[in-house]
Formats: sequence, C-alpha cells, structure tokens
Amino acid sequence: MNKKEIIELLKNNDKELFSRANDARKKYTGDGIHLRGLIEFSNICKRNCLYCGLQSSNKNITRYRMSEDEIITAAKNCTCKTIVLQSGEDDFFTTSKLCKIIEKIKENDVALTLSIGERSYSDYKEFYKAGADRYLLRIETTDKNLYKKMHPKASFENRKKCLYNLKELGYETGTGSLVGLPEQTIDSLADDILFYKKLDADMVGIGPFIPHPDTPLKGKLQTANFELALRMMSITRILLKDINIPATSAMETINPNGRIIALNAGANVIMPNATPLKYRAKYEIYPNKICTDEQPEKCDICIKSKIASIGRYVSEDKGFRTKNN
Ligand code: 5AD
Ligand code: FES
Repeated sequence: MNKKEIIELLKNNDKELFSRANDARKKYTGDGIHLRGLIEFSNICKRNCLYCGLQSSNKNITRYRMSEDEIITAAKNCTCKTIVLQSGEDDFFTTSKLCKIIEKIKENDVALTLSIGERSYSDYKEFYKAGADRYLLRIETTDKNLYKKMHPKASFENRKKCLYNLKELGYETGTGSLVGLPEQTIDSLADDILFYKKLDADMVGIGPFIPHPDTPLKGKLQTANFELALRMMSITRILLKDINIPATSAMETINPNGRIIALNAGANVIMPNATPLKYRAKYEIYPNKICTDEQPEKCDICIKSKIASIGRYVSEDKGFRTKNN
C-alpha cells in the first residue's frame, strides 16, 4: 500500500475497509482479545502538550502521585496478564524508584508495559533490565510543524529517537497518533501510518482528539474524529498485519459503542482501567473519560460481556506480538 492509496482509503466513506481490517485481524492475531490493565500512577507532568489536560499549566486539576505500595497493590489486584504503568512526565519517579516498582510487579506472572514519556537511553536500558517488556510512546503526529505547535519546547527528533532506542533495546514498542488535532491534514495522517510501518511498531494506539476545557485547545468536539480514527486504525491493521492494536478508551468516550466497533474493525486489545477509584477521575487527559466511577469488578464484567457479545474471548496468554507476516 503506498501513500496515495492510504490517502484514498482515509478520504473514502467506504465501510468495506472495516471488514477487510477485521479479516486481517482474524487471520494474523485470531479471536483472542488481550486485556492490559492500566495503572495511572501520577498525573504530575512537566510538559505542556497543548491538547492534554495533564499539562503543567493546568491549575484546575488536583495532582496526585500513588505511593510505591499503592502501585504494587493495584498491580496485584488486577487480573490482566499485562500491567501498564502510565503517568505524566514526573521526575519524582527516578530511575531507581521505578526499577524497584518494576521488579516487584514482575514477581507476578505478568508482562509489564511502561508509558511514562521521553527518557534517556540509559534509563530505558535500566527499566528493561529491571523487567519491563514493552513501552508505549505515541508519536502523536509526524507533521513536524504541527508537532512543534502542539509540544512547546519539545523536539520531534528526540521523540523519534526515543522510539528507535526502545526498539534497539528489545522492547515491544508501541506508538500511535491523535486524530483530529487542529490543522492536522489527511496527508500527514497517511505519513503517520507509514511511520509506524517504518519503525516496525509492535503496537499502535490511535485515538480521536477530544478537546479539554482547561487547555488552549478547548472547543467543540468533532465527532467526525471517531470515524477518521477508526479508518486510521483499520488501515494500520491491514498494513502492519500481526501487531497489537487497542480499541481505545477515547473511542468509547465519543461513541458509546466505540470499543466494540473498533474490535470489529481491526483491534485486538482492550485496556481496562486498573487505577484505584479515588484517583481515576483526576487522571483527566481529556474530559468525560469512561469508567471513572466504576468499581474494577464492574468493568471486568462489562468488558467480558462485551467481548462475548461479539463471539470473541479473553486471551489467556500475555499477548506478545507473534510475528505472523
Ligand atoms: N484527547 C484524546 N487523547 C489525548 N491524549 C492526550 N490528550 C488527549 C486528548 N485531549 C492521548 C495522547 C497520549 C495518550 C496517553 O493520551 O495521545 O499519548
Ligand atoms: Fe468500565 Fe464498561 S469497561 S464500565
């Protein structure tokens, strides 16, 4: 698939794309759905990404950090085969603090994913040695000008470098994009997909941009972002074949059936929220996040019944990428 074809598929309204992606998902990854329990352990962030509710300039948010014990307990209580530790870019969590937490969590029979932003090569190396298996770092957009506007003082080149460092160190590396950012073009979205391919990403998470009222990008929600994000996801499945692709919570936030639709259009992963209830609503990357007042058990039942309703099942293994292409 070349760039021109990707652009055509993105512009098109053709629903056949979704069934093609669903066929590819079935062929390369099967019917099992991997659950990755997400622990949002700190909403403190030194960065100022324009779209994100956790940006350091946002004074309307109550900041929190979970203690080491709370993080380890949340991981123990989660029944998923993968634990994802996510936070803002919070320097309080030094390399040694994080390595200790990683080692503890890895005493359980789980895979561990980190999603804590840009760090040095040597930090990534330490985390890997401590037992981290995977890393999520969305490129967000490959449009360099847009990247610059969205990320004051940050460098697109460094973000790319981080992703290549993670790959080199042996992590299963996840990336992805925000879809529907102001001034984002279809042309650049096609480049995003080609970037995932070039990186040989093992996971790709794609979500619609949802404006947060306490950020400079506050404004009206573009519901069309859902369909576009879905098309991005389906094309990514067809092109990257055997990778892991989540049905993102942002999709469910703007469409009540969003995750099921995504699971039927190429996705094979769900990331249930495993953050203790008292912190959930405070991790407000975007407004109206799902499950912020659900007990973990309720989400567990809800997700399993959704999965069963479409004739799929919860995978029993850790869900590493099995190279099938
Ligand atoms: N809407 C949707 N997704 C967002 N993210 C950050 N802010 C928003 C928003 N306003 C996504 C980014 C980040 C991930 C953790 O959350 O893509 O990588
Ligand atoms: Fe939380 Fe459905 S996944 S209530």
